[in-house]
Amino acid sequence: MDFSIKSGNPEKQRTGCLIVGAMETRKLTAPAKAIDDCAGKHLSNMLRRGDMDGKTGQSLLLHNVPGTLADRVLLIGCGREREITDRQYRSIIENGMRAISATGASDAVNYLPELNVKGRDHYWKLRQALEIANHVSYEFREFKSRKKGTDRSLRRLTLMVPSRRELPVGEQAMRDGLAISRAVKATRDLANRPANVCTPTHLAHHAQGLTRTHRNLRCKVLDRPALEKLGMHSFLSVSQGSQEPPKLIVLEYHGGKRGGKPVVLVGKGVTFDTGGISIKPAQAMDEMKFDMCGAASVMGAISAAADLKLPLDVVGIIPATENMPGGRATKPGDIVTSMSGQTIEVLNTDAEGRLILCDALTYAERFNPAAVIDVATLTGACVVALGHHASGLLANHSPLARSLLDAGESSADRAWQLPLWDEYQKQIDSPFADFANVGGRDAGTITAACFLSRFAGKYHWAHLDIAGTAWISGKNKGATGRPVPLLVQYLLDQCAAA
Ligand code: BES
Ligand code: MN
Ligand code: ZN
Repeated sequence: MDFSIKSGNPEKQRTGCLIVGAMETRKLTAPAKAIDDCAGKHLSNMLRRGDMDGKTGQSLLLHNVPGTLADRVLLIGCGREREITDRQYRSIIENGMRAISATGASDAVNYLPELNVKGRDHYWKLRQALEIANHVSYEFREFKSRKKGTDRSLRRLTLMVPSRRELPVGEQAMRDGLAISRAVKATRDLANRPANVCTPTHLAHHAQGLTRTHRNLRCKVLDRPALEKLGMHSFLSVSQGSQEPPKLIVLEYHGGKRGGKPVVLVGKGVTFDTGGISIKPAQAMDEMKFDMCGAASVMGAISAAADLKLPLDVVGIIPATENMPGGRATKPGDIVTSMSGQTIEVLNTDAEGRLILCDALTYAERFNPAAVIDVATLTGACVVALGHHASGLLANHSPLARSLLDAGESSADRAWQLPLWDEYQKQIDSPFADFANVGGRDAGTITAACFLSRFAGKYHWAHLDIAGTAWISGKNKGATGRPVPLLVQYLLDQCAAA
């Protein structure tokens, strides 16, 4: 979809559809009123007759409204409040996009970004509108024999601002929003691919492909022999049962000054998680193809940083592997030595994410990081705790946690912090090794983070558990692209603070 930012009167816009708001009860927003005035009260008459009263969720499509140059006028219900919340605004925008895609309009002019949102500026409203438009129009058809979806889709969307004064900030919102949208789309595409296509090798090729489209990226892929040499036996123990070779992908973006410390992003890249010998039940096991969403979002965030030429350095470290049962697979009770030298008793081979992340966290030390953030579909317990609305956040440094919570809030891709108190650490005690890879049923998300924290002692570190946010289950299952908006927002905020 093509986007542009513009200001001007609604009745003068030559377009397939004007999108304007109606408030409760039967009140028109300023742009809708302007149309109404030129249209001999056509809109207010409709409302008066009871076709719509302005509740959120309602929409009314009008054709050939007199006095306008538009083929259609789409009225969207905006609710009662003069100042609406983030959530309300986002749902109004989404309703508008869904309603317009049901029409034949191939272009539209959207006045909804002129609504007042509590505490939000034009930049925020426009960027959200653009990201939501892209999100709603996403389709994944790579594996459909008919590659084209609906041809009646919207091709051009103009987002309106009240005056020319807001145009520069609008352009900035468009640049940032487009980079984020592209990254979200790439993340969703990668994650939606089935595991027979999206293998560790496929992830590595994807990362290498990014260096061809983004000249400011560098990529290095380490194969099994290199991993052995580094002593990544924890990571390798997860790959043992699989025929697919493991890869450690290192993707570097350099945009900062010489000698600056990079932000390191670590992404869990389990391209399929059967559970290994501690095998998972059959129910919905197909969804374990999404167990590489951390990896995909890290690559997405880095490509957005490269797109925007952000003035900082970012390193992505992605351990990629399958987790399979097999004759050579790791068995419950096996003890492995991590790259850090710490030994791990693998009590449950289904707790494989932490086993690959721990070696990546040790590897991160060599970059002298400003901060390390790992992103992983790590625990079912996180879905139990937070559902699908917030990613779990745990950290060993409160300012870093604060920055990530704030970034989540402002990008509408929220996280919620869980405690990482010492009291929990003893749940992973082991009689045989330095510690175990599981800590029992209680506080599963926290004990997983406790495990990781033992490899992250040398730098500021935060962990995002995205098990509940990275994809949607059920009939309309698919990857969401989260937490790309949060990560990119964090990087943008770092640049603004520097
Ligand atoms: N990839 C899963 C976590 C997961 C489960 C994400 C369900 C989304 C939905 C992870 O590797 C895993 O299997 N975790 C185990 C840990 C347990 C064995 C301590 C879990 O959550 O059951
Ligand atoms: Mn698992
Ligand atoms: Zn997993």
